[in-house]
Amino acid sequence: MSGLSTSVLGLNLVHMEEVASTNAEAKKLAREGCPEGTVIVAETQKGGKGRLGRVWFSPRSRGLWFSIVLRPPINLVDTPQVTMVTAVAVATAVREHTGVPAGIKWPNDILVDGKKICGILVELNAEMDCVNFLVAGIGLNVNIKKNEFPPELADIVTSLEIESGQHIYRVPLLRCLLQHLEKWYHRWLNEGFAAVLNKWRQMCVTLDCPVTVHTIKETYSGYAVDVDDTGALLVRTGDGSVQRLIAGEVTLRKQ
Ligand code: BTN
Repeated sequence: MSGLSTSVLGLNLVHMEEVASTNAEAKKLAREGCPEGTVIVAETQKGGKGRLGRVWFSPRSRGLWFSIVLRPPINLVDTPQVTMVTAVAVATAVREHTGVPAGIKWPNDILVDGKKICGILVELNAEMDCVNFLVAGIGLNVNIKKNEFPPELADIVTSLEIESGQHIYRVPLLRCLLQHLEKWYHRWLNEGFAAVLNKWRQMCVTLDCPVTVHTIKETYSGYAVDVDDTGALLVRTGDGSVQRLIAGEVTLRKQ
């Protein structure tokens, strides 16, 4: 990609017309030994994967559907941090490039005015405690009109075109995303997670908000009060106790 000023991310960039899932393609290339920073970007995905087994709507040429192969020297327990590094970079790039006020909802959604504009799916390959590689998949709704979303999504998602009122060219946006992703990835590796968490807290739109938490074991309501130094969400429940959430789904609750 011309004009890209990164030193690792996107130097090996594979563009495909149609794939099942860019995450699946990236995992295949990673297993075959592709270099760190390899990016797979597709015009459309026929089986785009969301979290919790959901399908990711990926209409042809209307979004940025891409995955990045990363090989950070980290242990398995630290992998949730990659999602938060990615979220900070994506929200920063979206704000800078389009002026759209993107914010983060724990752990991995990028929202604008309460509606989802981008999802992040990090998948990993590990042996014992050691991470061999990670794939960070990013789905960003770019030029999708409200009436083009499936009816069940229309009220809960949005796109950059809807929010900015103009067509957004995807190549310069992808360049900006990769530059911010590389900056935050290296900052995380060199300075540690605390630097990322500071920025994550500033960009989070759901701290101090009433939330409902859904885990595989239970559903409960409370207030999202903070994240701890591992990135776990801290939720104060009705009896005053604080629950630490490392995996699950959080929805904003109207009071
Ligand atoms: C979520 O549910 O919020 C995560 C969505 C992640 C979607 C992206 S699109 C590019 C990459 N390839 C996939 O199959 N999924 C991710």
